[in-house]
Amino acid sequence: MSTVAGESPQAKQSADNEVTGRLSKQWSARLPLPDSHLVDTRIYTDPAIFEQEIERIWHKTWLPVCHESELANPLDFRSSGIAGDVPIVIVRGTDGKVRTFLNVCPHRGNLIVRKARGNLSVAEPSGNSNHMTCMFHGWQFNAEGRCVEIPRERAGYQDRVCKAGMGLRQIRTEVAYGGFVWVNLDDDGESLDDYMGGIFDYMKVELESEPLEVFHYQKVVINTNYKYFHETGREFYHDFLHYHNRQTGMMQKGYFDRKYVPYKNGHCLIGLTISQYKAYQGYEDRGLTFPGMPKNGWKGIGLFPGITFNLRSSCLRVNFMTPISENRVLIEVRGLGLKRDDDETRASRIRDFNTIWGPFGRNAHEDFLAIQTQAVAVRPGSGAKYCVMAREEDDTTHDEIGLRCYYSEWSRRMGRLASDPTRTHP
Ligand code: FES
Ligand SMILES: [Fe+2]
Repeated sequence: MSTVAGESPQAKQSADNEVTGRLSKQWSARLPLPDSHLVDTRIYTDPAIFEQEIERIWHKTWLPVCHESELANPLDFRSSGIAGDVPIVIVRGTDGKVRTFLNVCPHRGNLIVRKARGNLSVAEPSGNSNHMTCMFHGWQFNAEGRCVEIPRERAGYQDRVCKAGMGLRQIRTEVAYGGFVWVNLDDDGESLDDYMGGIFDYMKVELESEPLEVFHYQKVVINTNYKYFHETGREFYHDFLHYHNRQTGMMQKGYFDRKYVPYKNGHCLIGLTISQYKAYQGYEDRGLTFPGMPKNGWKGIGLFPGITFNLRSSCLRVNFMTPISENRVLIEVRGLGLKRDDDETRASRIRDFNTIWGPFGRNAHEDFLAIQTQAVAVRPGSGAKYCVMAREEDDTTHDEIGLRCYYSEWSRRMGRLASDPTRTHP
């Protein structure tokens, strides 16, 4: 080590160790920001907080589970898991009505429907057609949830247990807002319309002028906290991540005019903007739209606790989530067009969808990569303390008001502050 004339070796050593970042004390100190502008990273990593989220949020809010076009015919069914992986089965009855049941046998708790989708007229190997048959002891249930067969019922149960008292657990179900099937595990909570608070008026023309149809379904399991993914639908500051959005949006006139509008119950509107698709090399304007949607228009809705409706002119992308643990989430992505599309129109919508979101598109993977590496860096013991949600830009494109409105609702429902989960929500 060389020293300059007159400088002691100790002084040089001290200069070499000059602290240019922050020492532990400063790093861990809270920034001088209000509670609304910070999120404590423990709410992404703590299993006890996750369990409480499932109970206080996911078991009490309206969640979409599929679209009516995926249950087009009587006796069509789909099975899945919701809200921390509660098994459910959704069935269209012979009366045309869509109902949802817990996919749990009332006898000894086996899973009843084992296929992801199908039609009940096709019998399971051990069952009868038109019924859901539990493979374990052969109890059968019809599409309305009634128990219609208990093998050797009288011989074993005499008159102590009977079919009439052993129906499936029925879950509140509504088909609304563009034909989506919504469920709520809480029998006593608010109505679907009260929960939405009118937010779908913003997309009423686009979603309800004529029937929609699912043309794309993709399922992804990611080792991350579910909130990280939903956050990507509520702030566009991260357009710096997306090549597509930089080209078609950020570098274009009007990009920073887009507005966010916070809504009741933690929902938010993402204002209309016009994308310049031609600016993406090799791509063209989107000729197709939805009813009421301007050419190349883009608008969105973010719903608490983790649903996004994202309409980019010719195609609608809707994301649902099923949180599995504090660090694992199932994301389901659906793409929709109009039911009356002819083959050419549909192909065009699918091309538009895939360019940006599909399995070989751009944006979806960029988001998935970002939220996966967030979870790597913010694991317990890594030293990460806070996520900063403090951008204020007149509620426009790079403002983080959408995140703040989410965490305000999160804090209210959890009874604890997102900025410090050890403190009670006032
Ligand atoms: S557990 Fe379903 S019939 Fe026994
Ligand atoms: Fe994104």
